[in-house]
Amino acid sequence: MSLISLQGVSKVYRVGDQEIRALDGIDLRIEEGEFVSIIGPSGSGKSTLMHLLGCLDTPTAGSMEICGREMARAGVGELARMRNREIGFVFQSFNLLPRLDVLANIELPLIYSGIPASERRERARRVAGDVGLAERLANRPSQLSGGQCQRVAIARALVNNPRIVFGDEPTGNLDSATGAMVLEMFEQLNAAGKTVVLVTHDPAIAARTRRVVEIHDGRIRRDAKA
Ligand SMILES: Nc1ncnc2c1ncn2[C@@H]1O[C@H](COP(=O)(O)OP(=O)(O)O)[C@@H](O)[C@H]1O
Ligand SMILES: [Mg+2]
Repeated sequence: MSLISLQGVSKVYRVGDQEIRALDGIDLRIEEGEFVSIIGPSGSGKSTLMHLLGCLDTPTAGSMEICGREMARAGVGELARMRNREIGFVFQSFNLLPRLDVLANIELPLIYSGIPASERRERARRVAGDVGLAERLANRPSQLSGGQCQRVAIARALVNNPRIVFGDEPTGNLDSATGAMVLEMFEQLNAAGKTVVLVTHDPAIAARTRRVVEIHDGRIRRDAKA
């Protein structure tokens, strides 16, 4: 059974009396352990697709099985539980909470899982060490470089030990050397067994993944495995 299985998935946004068909009949399977990039021009539906795969939203039509559960018509609580257990996200703009220090930012998903404070600290400390931030635990995001902020975000994405890690243009706000380092971290995660899905408009990043899914106007135009 595939880790992710979409059939006939469409997403229509309604803005006033206008309908925007952001995704139009997507069929897509992703197996456990894959390293996939989703590419396409701006406005092609990449972020919309990632939001669906990551259980941040539900489709207008079609079926969507994630980690063995049909999620297409799931309610907000069920979506949140799936995200909390199985999914980590890394965004282009880091999405850290500015008033919290590094350790507290990394701990955040564990608070939602109801894990006791001492265990939260311990786990957050461990993943912070894994991404090379052991010395920066008490810093706030404004005291860190972009690359360090993205490492905090990666640690936060990993602290719940998810099966799938999504990145939406995770190197988009970084200089090329720092971006390369962040990309290497995703490669290591995949080598350690995580399923990794990266959304990017950068062909150089896509070339580093083992499968490239290209979307145009909300449809899959190409799906190529290296
Ligand atoms: N929340 C939303 N409300 C209305 N339209 C949206 C929303 N999110 C995305 N869209 C529209 O859906 C289409 C796909 O957007 P998106 O998935 O963000 O593309 P990409 O990430 O490839 O740039 C675009 O036309 C965009 O304007
Ligand atoms: Mg986008």
